[in-house]
Amino acid sequence: MAQVVLKDVSKTYNGGVKAVDRVSFEVQDREFLVLVGPSGCGKSTTLRMVAGLEEINEGRIYIGDRLVNEVPAKDRNIAMVFQNYALYPHMTAYENMAFGLKLRKYPKAEIATRVKEAAEILGIKDLLHRRPGEISGGERQRVAVGRAIVRKPAVFLFDEPLSNLDAKMRVQMRAELNKLHIRLQTTMIYVTHDQVEAMTLGNRIVVMKDGVIHQIADPITLYDHPVNQFVASFIGNPPMNFMNGRMIRVDSKLYFDEGSFRVKLVDEMTAKLMPYEGKPILFGIRSEDIYDKLFVSLAPPENIVKATVEIIEPMGSEVYLYMRSKRHTFIARVGGHDRPEVNQDIDMVFDMSRVHFFDPETEETVV
Ligand SMILES: Nc1ncnc2c1ncn2[C@@H]1O[C@H](COP(=O)(O)OP(=O)(O)O)[C@@H](O)[C@H]1O
Ligand SMILES: [Mg+2]
Repeated sequence: MAQVVLKDVSKTYNGGVKAVDRVSFEVQDREFLVLVGPSGCGKSTTLRMVAGLEEINEGRIYIGDRLVNEVPAKDRNIAMVFQNYALYPHMTAYENMAFGLKLRKYPKAEIATRVKEAAEILGIKDLLHRRPGEISGGERQRVAVGRAIVRKPAVFLFDEPLSNLDAKMRVQMRAELNKLHIRLQTTMIYVTHDQVEAMTLGNRIVVMKDGVIHQIADPITLYDHPVNQFVASFIGNPPMNFMNGRMIRVDSKLYFDEGSFRVKLVDEMTAKLMPYEGKPILFGIRSEDIYDKLFVSLAPPENIVKATVEIIEPMGSEVYLYMRSKRHTFIARVGGHDRPEVNQDIDMVFDMSRVHFFDPETEETVV
């Protein structure tokens, strides 16, 4: 068991790419921490520096209480699982899982016990005699995880381990990784570009972009209180709707004026938005916070937005309505029974207690 600490860690590759720029975070003992961000943002580089597979230019990394900057990968007591599994094709599943222990000269009986135990946990007992070419992608990934488990490392590192699986298998393996974490009670650091994986697996999530950390928080805090427009747009599906407009005052009350409609602020938000009166502001609202007025019993008239239906995507339990106001498009997620017509003008209700405002210059959250 161990905590992992990164302090102002930077990495510039030969050729001048600054892949990671003064990254700091702490992973608690037994925590499941997810690094998430778009492709190329420095997730793998960060993980590989923790693993000792990549040199660090600046900063310090601790595993447990030990500074590991100069400690070789094999002595860091970590195990890593990769996207491409990295199994030896000529070895059976058993031999693949046993290989690392054999190298470290573990007794044969101990190796057998550990491989059997891991195979049990992962439900792959019956295919231990098969080679990677003779099993499915999901089973291969289990063998790769098994190879990490048998080492009983202080920290597990995962680099996009589910990306090569089909959608259904990905969902299944995601749940199994969750169970595995509960069962093993070991510190895990998990890298993915998929915000759904991040939200469903992480105790806490580190959101990165261009080598820099934007926010570290638990999933619900990230979703409800993103620190800036990037985090707001990256976390959540469909992404948050954004609209440019101005803050205006009408009869002593503050409104967001989109240009073709206006909606009234709730009292709790007015103090922070007062400085923007008469100025441009960026408005954000999630698709589930927009309702079809037809299904709202008491819609406040000042929160109603007239818009035209452009596309209807029935998802079964809910429907995505792609809407257009005069100046913006936005997506509303409404109940599965709601079926307006394409090109129909309908009244939408914005839940103004759930909206977000961002400074248009800095893109930081205002409220
Ligand atoms: N070995 C390398 N040499 C040079 N540049 C690299 C190398 N590996 C990664 N990079 C660059 O560093 C940046 C971060 O890469 P990476 O950590 O792999 O991102 P991610 O895992 O988030 O997709 C990218 O711009 C990438 O092109
Ligand atoms: Mg990567």
